[in-house]
Amino acid sequence: MPIKYSRKDFPEGFKFGAATAAYQIEGSENGNCGTCHWDTFSTTPGNVNNGENGSIACDHFHRFEEDLDLVKAGGFDSYRFSTSWARVMPDGKTINKDGLDYYDRLADAICERNLLPNLTLYHWELPSALADIGGWANRETAKRFVDHTNAVIKCIGDRMDAVATINEPWCVAWLSYFLGHHAPGLRDIRAAARAMHHILLAHGLSIDAMRSLGTSNIGIVLNLTEVQQASDTQSDVSAKDRLDGIHNRWFLDAIFKAEYPDDILKDLIHFMPKNLEDDMTLISSSIDWIGINYYTRTIVAEDANEPWPSIKEIKGPLQQTQMGWEIYPDGLKNSLVRVSREYTGELPMLVTENGMAWKDTVLNEKVFDPIRADYISSHLSAAKAAIDQGVNLKGFFYWSLLDNFEWAFGYEKRFGLVHVDFETQKRTPKASFHDLALALTS
Ligand code: GCO
Repeated sequence: MPIKYSRKDFPEGFKFGAATAAYQIEGSENGNCGTCHWDTFSTTPGNVNNGENGSIACDHFHRFEEDLDLVKAGGFDSYRFSTSWARVMPDGKTINKDGLDYYDRLADAICERNLLPNLTLYHWELPSALADIGGWANRETAKRFVDHTNAVIKCIGDRMDAVATINEPWCVAWLSYFLGHHAPGLRDIRAAARAMHHILLAHGLSIDAMRSLGTSNIGIVLNLTEVQQASDTQSDVSAKDRLDGIHNRWFLDAIFKAEYPDDILKDLIHFMPKNLEDDMTLISSSIDWIGINYYTRTIVAEDANEPWPSIKEIKGPLQQTQMGWEIYPDGLKNSLVRVSREYTGELPMLVTENGMAWKDTVLNEKVFDPIRADYISSHLSAAKAAIDQGVNLKGFFYWSLLDNFEWAFGYEKRFGLVHVDFETQKRTPKASFHDLALALTS
C-alpha cells in the first residue's frame, strides 16, 4: 500500500528519519558494557514477557554497518540513536574505552553515509552501581549524569546534528517508579516524585555541561499522549486533568515555564525533595528544539477506590495495534498544536518517534504489512495538518528501524520497518520499508 505523501508535500528542508535506542538493539553482552537496571529487571521473573532481555537484542553492536546501510536505502535523512550510560561507564564512573570506541565508529559510519546523527544521551540504561544508590530517586544520579554527558560529547559531539538529553522523562520516572512497569519496577510515590524532579534536573545539568563544551542544537524528547475523559461527569473530567498534568504538563511546565503545575504539585509536594524551586532555572534552561514521541491517546475515568491520582484507564473502541494501543492520528496533530500554542511558539519541533507494532511474519522472504503504511500515511497527514496550523515542525522519525527489544514486552512486539529474525539475526525489510523509501526518494 503506497504511502499517501512524499517529500514534496512537506516544507523545504523537512527531515525524515528512523529511530532506535541502545539497549533495544545493541546487545549488552558485547564490548565490556556494564550491567544496567534493565539487565536485572528483565532477569527477574514476571517483569518481561518470556523472561527476555537485551543481552543480544539485534546484535547491532556487530552489525551496525549493515543496519545503517538500511537507513540509507530507506531514503532517510537522519538517524536517531542513543548511547548507553552503562556501556560508556560500566561502574557508573570509570570510562570504558571499548564503549566510547564503539560510539566513535558508529558516529563515523552515520556521517560516511551522509546521514544526520540525532543523538539521545539517555534512553534508560542506568548503570547498576547507580541503581544501587536509589537510581533516579537519588539526586546524586542527576549529578553523575554530567559525567556521562561529558564523556559522550567529548568523543562524538563534534559530529552530531542534534542532541537530546533524556528520552521520555515520564517513562523514566512515573512508569518506572510509580507504575512499576519499567526498570527498576518500583511502585512507590515518594521515589516516583523524586524521580520526576531528578530526571529533569539531570536534563538541566546536562544542557549546562554541553553548553560549556560548545555543543549546539540541544533538545529533549517527551512522550505525550492526548488524554480524554471517559464521560463528561465532573469526576472523569478531573481525572483527565490529573493524568494530563502528570503525563504532559509536568514536563512542559517545568521546561518552558520553570514551574510544576499547581494542581499536581499540591498532591505530590509531600513526597518531593526540599528546595526544588532552586533547580527550576536550570531545568528551564533554553533549548534549541523539542522532540515529541506520539503513539496513541489515553482515555481515563476516576477510580475513587484508589488513592491519588485515583484514575483508571478505559479501553477505547478504535482499531488497535499489537500493543493494544488505539490508532488515533488526530492525537498527534492535537499534541503538536497544543505544545506549539501553549509552550514553544516558534521553537523547532521534531516528531522523534511515531510508529506501530504488528504481528509481522516473513513469507517467501517478504513481510506484508499494509496496516503500517496506512498508519504512517495517517500520521504524516496529522503532521502536515499541524504544520498548516502554524506548528514549526522540522522533521519526522519513524519508530523503529528494526524490530527490537520492546522493554517489558520482550521481542514479541514488532515495531520495525525491518523484520529481524532473532534466531539468525536476518534482516528483512518489510513492505512498509519499501513503500516509505519510495515516498522519500520520489
Ligand atoms: C518508548 C521508547 C521506545 C519504545 C517505543 C514503543 O516510548 O517506550 O522511546 O523505546 O520502544 O516508544 O513503545
